[in-house]
Amino acid sequence: MDELKTRVRVSDVVGKSVKLKRQGREYAGLSPFTNEKTPSFFVNDEKGFYHCFSSGKHGDAISFLMEVENLSFPEAVERLAGIAGMELPQADPQAEARAARNKETVNWIEEAQSFFVKSLYRDIGAEARDYLKGRGLTKTAADRFGIGFAPDDFTALRDELVQKGASVKMLVEAGLCIEPEDSSREPWDRFRNRIMFPIRDPRGRLVAFGGRAMAKDAKAKYLNSPETNLFHKGSVLYRYPEARKALGNPQNPMRGMIVAEGYMDVIALARAGFEEAVAPLGTALTEDQLDLLWRAGPEPILCFDGDRAGAKAAMRSVERILPKLKPGQTARFAMLPEGQDPDDLIAAKGASAMRDVLDRAIPLVDMLWAREKEAGPLSTPEDKAGLKDRIYKALREITHDGVREQYKTELLARFDSEFGWKASRKGGGYTARGRGTAKASPAMKQTMARDAMSEARERRIMGAILEWPLLLDTVDETFFSLQFSSEPCRQLQNTIQSYYSSTIAVDKQGLHAHIEGLGLKQHLTKFLIDRALCIAAMGGGDATLNERQAIWMTEAAALSGPVQEERTNGETQSRIVESIHENNADVLRRLMRAAKNTRR
Ligand code: UTP
Ligand code: MN
Repeated sequence: MDELKTRVRVSDVVGKSVKLKRQGREYAGLSPFTNEKTPSFFVNDEKGFYHCFSSGKHGDAISFLMEVENLSFPEAVERLAGIAGMELPQADPQAEARAARNKETVNWIEEAQSFFVKSLYRDIGAEARDYLKGRGLTKTAADRFGIGFAPDDFTALRDELVQKGASVKMLVEAGLCIEPEDSSREPWDRFRNRIMFPIRDPRGRLVAFGGRAMAKDAKAKYLNSPETNLFHKGSVLYRYPEARKALGNPQNPMRGMIVAEGYMDVIALARAGFEEAVAPLGTALTEDQLDLLWRAGPEPILCFDGDRAGAKAAMRSVERILPKLKPGQTARFAMLPEGQDPDDLIAAKGASAMRDVLDRAIPLVDMLWAREKEAGPLSTPEDKAGLKDRIYKALREITHDGVREQYKTELLARFDSEFGWKASRKGGGYTARGRGTAKASPAMKQTMARDAMSEARERRIMGAILEWPLLLDTVDETFFSLQFSSEPCRQLQNTIQSYYSSTIAVDKQGLHAHIEGLGLKQHLTKFLIDRALCIAAMGGGDATLNERQAIWMTEAAALSGPVQEERTNGETQSRIVESIHENNADVLRRLMRAAKNTRR
């Protein structure tokens, strides 16, 4: 450590990220910790420290790297050693040999990177350049993300690197060339005719590539480097070093990384100003990757597609995260509009739409509650006991005592407020504590059960309108005449009506903005928690508008009674079912009106 510190000047380290000007025996510059306009940040090489008057921060080269690059102590030491050109002492000779070999491998991967970038701007790269242009990537952007092109050739990279001194064996070890199983011929280039994305490990070393085929019908859309000594895809996140640095900036308000699904998403996010975005490499998040995320910030936001598959994937992550929760280590879940990834959303609606999605990210505890609630029916006492069992089962997954205790309090409180004594009083009309369930008449009990059921149904009906306001095109009359029993639903119904009558083109963003504008954001947020459930209940993410309208109509019919009660004219009922099968919303609407009149 001493040798390290004497070999590297603090100004060299600081100077990589802060513009320094000599001032007597010191250097001065603008503080990297605040937004100052006049320099009050000083570096003194003789004393080996920096001092920042605007933030009060003070330290040496290592603490600077820890602060500014958001590195841990060992990582900062390693980085400093790199700058000093020093080898950190190795544990044993074998490890030393391995380290040397790895270093050589990384060098050749870097050479490959230069080759790919060069190829993008040669004649053979014309089609690749067109492809990038078509996806909205300028040359500046391509440069910034190190995007390159692997020519459509079996030996171009191999020949170039061998000519520069690489052994073919090394190129195979680096994952750049593929060795035939029977060694009947020389190894050939793994990446051909693909757009290349360089992948760095958490320490910033270039260890792999992701290659995207340009043709729509290519066999594998993305091809990644294979697992090598250096590259374990489960322990790497795309753009992790850059994202970590961005999060380390004190001006960054985010509480953790943003996790998207693909390379292009991360790039679109970074270009839209969300520099703290990363992605796993085509797999679900591993434990190692979760640890990497938490090393960078306490509350990463995981983005998922708003369809059924996305909701499922989100739930799988919940499972993986529960055992690892502890103070300062949680996650939120952002559900994207159905069928859109961040790249699509940003291209279509810009950074502010993405910001909205992130702002609405759902805390883990809400995801868990939604998951347990939707896992089974909830009308009988046995059902409710089942929910409680599920809650306890989930709680047992949480290993940290304090966190488990908090989750227990929170989830049981929710259980009580929805299904407990207070909740039934709301529904059943009890008057005072002490005179409880025992005195409820059978009729009251029936009402209560129906209320609980219709409450869930009301939420689905309302949730669907909030998700797909276009439904209103056909169901408007029914929707505005529904008698909701919950106050939030009644308020939303009124608000939606006022919006509907004041606009020509109904769209979701406009509707939500209108609702928020009237101070009802909290109602909206509540619905977003159950959004995945609601989508699933309305035929899933792939359903057509017609299908949704039909399902919506049955729900609405059930809410106002005709489908379930004897009073319903049997014939009307079977015709309603029929028209649902035919997806005939017009007929449905007419029948609904008829059913309503019959009841009167
Ligand atoms: P997606 O299929 O969602 O693609 O894969 P994408 O990220 O939206 O990419 P574009 O917009 O079509 O270019 C998400 C991620 O899954 C991995 C890649 O890491 C990709 O970024 N993947 C996907 C593969 O590894 N192999 C594949 O064949 C497809
Ligand atoms: Mn995409």
